[in-house]
Amino acid sequence: MPNIAIVGAQWGDEGKGKIVDLLTAKVQVVARYNGGHNAGHTIRIGDQTFVLHLIPSGILHPGILCVMGAGMVIDPWALDKEMTELTDRGVAIDDNLVISDRAHLILPHHRALEALTEEMRGSRKIGTTQRGIGPAYEDKAGRRGVRMGDLLHPAALPERLQEGRRHYEQICRGTGREATVDWEKLAADLAHFGEILRPRIKDVSLVMHRHMAEGYSVLFEGAQATLLDIDHGTYPFVTSSSAIAGGALTGLGVPPTRLDGVIGIVKAYTTRVGSGPLPSEIGGVLEEQIRQKGSEFGASTGRPRRCGWFDAVVVRYSARVNGLDSLALTKLDVLDELPEILLCTGYRYAGELITEFPADLSVLDGCDPVYETFPGWQVPTAGTRDFAALPDSARRYVDRISDLVGAEIGIVSTGPGREDTILRSGSAVTAWFE
Ligand code: GDP
Ligand code: IMO
Ligand code: MG
Repeated sequence: MPNIAIVGAQWGDEGKGKIVDLLTAKVQVVARYNGGHNAGHTIRIGDQTFVLHLIPSGILHPGILCVMGAGMVIDPWALDKEMTELTDRGVAIDDNLVISDRAHLILPHHRALEALTEEMRGSRKIGTTQRGIGPAYEDKAGRRGVRMGDLLHPAALPERLQEGRRHYEQICRGTGREATVDWEKLAADLAHFGEILRPRIKDVSLVMHRHMAEGYSVLFEGAQATLLDIDHGTYPFVTSSSAIAGGALTGLGVPPTRLDGVIGIVKAYTTRVGSGPLPSEIGGVLEEQIRQKGSEFGASTGRPRRCGWFDAVVVRYSARVNGLDSLALTKLDVLDELPEILLCTGYRYAGELITEFPADLSVLDGCDPVYETFPGWQVPTAGTRDFAALPDSARRYVDRISDLVGAEIGIVSTGPGREDTILRSGSAVTAWFE
């Protein structure tokens, strides 16, 4: 049975949650590999909507093992809240959820540090989710982090917190801020979480290895997206984790040889939350119309998402960096009413045509998108389940995206529900899962 990675191929919120939930029916394990509760993965089942932040999007299917990997950063308070909310809504969380002993913790001083650094950046701020993600990964790389496994040794927690505390207090002194963390209470709170979470904290690489050895199939669930990736995104306007397909391996302790395929999730247009380049940004009344029709407001923070046309330069870059075998194109229905639809095929920079996504943000700033214009279909596609039933111009739009990106489109999503989905026959996705 195949092991497949699901990655965001734009700037996040492409509909990863919907697609992971949909494909969970075909696998036994769903494993999140990066990020923390900066993610908001929405799943619509009938009239119920679930937004998952930390827990893998497979949790709504009974009997599926959900795994939280070493590449994640976990705020124990946020995890506790999410588990409680799910169980209150009747979702079983028993031995179906395991957490890596190597995943790092997000602690209260991380949030304080993030507020401070964003404030100091002024107009150059990243527009983060303010969840403490960046400072938690900084402590990890600075080798002063605290890990899930440390929760299992409560007596040693005060000592484990020392390096992070020293660093935080040094910054507070240097910036004339008051250090506000009660470290004794923090150690006690963490010991409490250790008690609650003890049975779930495991060597996740070993768990994954054993399940794959049994022939079980895994979906690797990425959070954030390629253009928010710490190495390959629009740095510095990125998150702090490895969001690309490669991160699925490092984030779970699984060898590259075990990955059988990668599905890139893309919207039929583009959105971005927070600051940073968005070359195909639409602006004005039309952008607002798409934002309203697509409910483009952050699933975690409620912030309005910036909206742009589909940018084939971006997604072709994603296809290269991730090795995308197939694309899932979501939210096609959001474009239903538009009289015309633009598709970005390249950028004009200093008189030259650029077709490869540049690393240099000053180049990107000076880029003017080059567009192809498509006639809108202006008939409802919401809920369509058959590719042949889409209007001609919608099919031509989808096929053109596939040509420009150089990857098949195996799934077209026409609504938020599980059933609002076209699975293309003859695609890699059907070969893997049918
Ligand atoms: P994720 O972070 O990639 O999981 O995406 P989000 O959940 O943050 O945002 C995607 C939003 O689009 C959610 O509200 C989904 O319910 C919704 N959605 C997903 N696919 C479709 C679709 O094909 N059509 C429409 N109209 N909404 C969709
Ligand atoms: P999902 O998994 C969209 C963005 C933030 C900000 C930047 C850095 O739902 O697609 P951070 O708090 O991570 O340090 O913020 O990254 N960002 C996301 N944008 N979807 C997400 O997750 C995001 N997670 C972080 O808005 O621009
Ligand atoms: Mg989201």
